[in-house]
Amino acid sequence: MKEITVVGGPASLNLAKRIAKKLNLPYKSFSLKIFPDGESKVRLEEVPNTKGVILVQSTYPPVDRHWMQLFFMLSFLTEKAYDIILVVPYFGYSRQDKEFLKGEAISLKVIADLLSNFWIKEMITLDFHNPKALSYFKFPAYNLSTVPLLAEYAKKNFQLIDSLCVSPDLGGSSRVKEFSKILEIPYLSLEKSRDKITGEISLKDAEIQVSNKTIFIVDDIISTGKSIVKATKFLKERGASKVYALISHIISSNALKIIKESDIDELIGTNTIPNRISKVDVSEIVSSYIEKKW
Ligand code: R5P
Repeated sequence: MKEITVVGGPASLNLAKRIAKKLNLPYKSFSLKIFPDGESKVRLEEVPNTKGVILVQSTYPPVDRHWMQLFFMLSFLTEKAYDIILVVPYFGYSRQDKEFLKGEAISLKVIADLLSNFWIKEMITLDFHNPKALSYFKFPAYNLSTVPLLAEYAKKNFQLIDSLCVSPDLGGSSRVKEFSKILEIPYLSLEKSRDKITGEISLKDAEIQVSNKTIFIVDDIISTGKSIVKATKFLKERGASKVYALISHIISSNALKIIKESDIDELIGTNTIPNRISKVDVSEIVSSYIEKKW
């Protein structure tokens, strides 16, 4: 284990530092320069004297920029022959995992192919949108769930009497099931559909008993915020007293604005994407996975 250094990429310096501390490993980081034309230059100022590195870089917006920085860092580390364990806390492009509309490129497959150029021994990601799509990767790729941490947060911070866990769509059913099992409260999934062209969301009407209940919405991502806003409105209109949302990745400031103007009572995110609502620290699950495996 001592033969590894944790290396922070520009998008995940704090998280990488926390992981290094938990694993009691040396820590180094890449510095970043952005040129006036928008290009990024990364530089590892102190070169690790270990055989392996754990490189941590999340790929939240600006997604393309963070991916390019990651490719540059991987290129440097591969050239210098380090064994690389790659941690991508939020994996940008994971949602475009098939040709939804005829003529679309499968962005996730493109990223997976590009990553196969580097000396990656294993990749770890968190709450990957569709874990089955990890089969695109040509090296071992492992998905960790943040659900136990989100459930722990709910247990510590909210009153659980008369409460219900809700997934905003059927795709999130196993996630909400896992969450509700930990909290020992019932759950249901709403039936959401999204117009593939306009992105507009609609929810199928349903006879659900939410009157005077505290609702915990669990989801993997808030991107535009449309899903969460719609689900909150739907539940409040049917009498829910409080709606709290516990989300793995909250990816845009636009979403924060939408939510501020919505009827949601509290929004809780993790630090896979650092922002002012990153209330849940994921360093513990990443470091304990690495400790067991490596
Ligand atoms: C959908 O399948 C996901 O689980 C999220 O619910 C969705 O991607 C959230 O996107 P937005 O915030 O843009 O509605």
